[in-house]
Amino acid sequence: MLADIKSYVFLKKEELKKEVLKLEVKPHLLIIQVNDDVASNSYIKGKIKDCSEIGVICDLLKLDINISQSELLSIIDKYNKDNKIHGILVQMPLPKQINEDVIKQSIDPKKDVDGFNKLSKFKPCTPYGIIKYLEFINYEFKSKNAVIINRSNIVGKPLINLLLEKDCNVTVLHSKTTLEDMKYYLQHADLIVSAIGKPHILKGYNFKKDAVLIDVGISRIDGKLCGDFETNNDVKLQTPVPGGIGLITRLTLLENLLEAYRNEL
Ligand code: GUN
Repeated sequence: MLADIKSYVFLKKEELKKEVLKLEVKPHLLIIQVNDDVASNSYIKGKIKDCSEIGVICDLLKLDINISQSELLSIIDKYNKDNKIHGILVQMPLPKQINEDVIKQSIDPKKDVDGFNKLSKFKPCTPYGIIKYLEFINYEFKSKNAVIINRSNIVGKPLINLLLEKDCNVTVLHSKTTLEDMKYYLQHADLIVSAIGKPHILKGYNFKKDAVLIDVGISRIDGKLCGDFETNNDVKLQTPVPGGIGLITRLTLLENLLEAYRNEL
């Protein structure tokens, strides 16, 4: 079964749209892009489209790829102090001369709608969005064997805590996990969240018939977008790629922006 994420996202966006309609001053997101990455261009296009759909302002500031770290920091500082801007998002990846962690920590925690800053008022969009979606479909988390295949600061690590708070048994697998262990953990998993980013890499595994597969991976085969899992596994629920968790991440960004706006009032 494929999860009907599109209806969920549509419903939530309609709620946000109604809220924004009532606001005299509209929430304002600033996206800063310092790359010419194909994937980033496509993510940003999606974010701009979402903002326009719910009626919030979104500006894209595209900076020279050779900009220095200190120049970028002073631009961020300027917008941190600008009270017309409620949310700031610096699109990753950044060019080599810029330290991503320094930039993430430089965004005002009240405006860090990505949830990347250690002091951010917001949870990272992808993990938080996954939890809220699973809550929406009344997923029973308690005592479930959850396996996360990713250990990044923006997906895997925050998800560990969120799933522990839900009383799951949490296992984290990664690039150094042996194939044998991978097989073992995946066949006993009730909930698998994978964010590897290699096309259909999780093929040939046995999943439980009532497993829930959350596919965060996005890659391409012959130019066509695909996820980490093969499509149509015989499981209870599998999120599609495209049209799955990517939409959830974008929705959470909008929710965080509105929260940043409300907090500012
Ligand atoms: N690059 C890929 N995904 C993201 C995201 O969610 N936020 C930012 N800032 N950059 C990204």
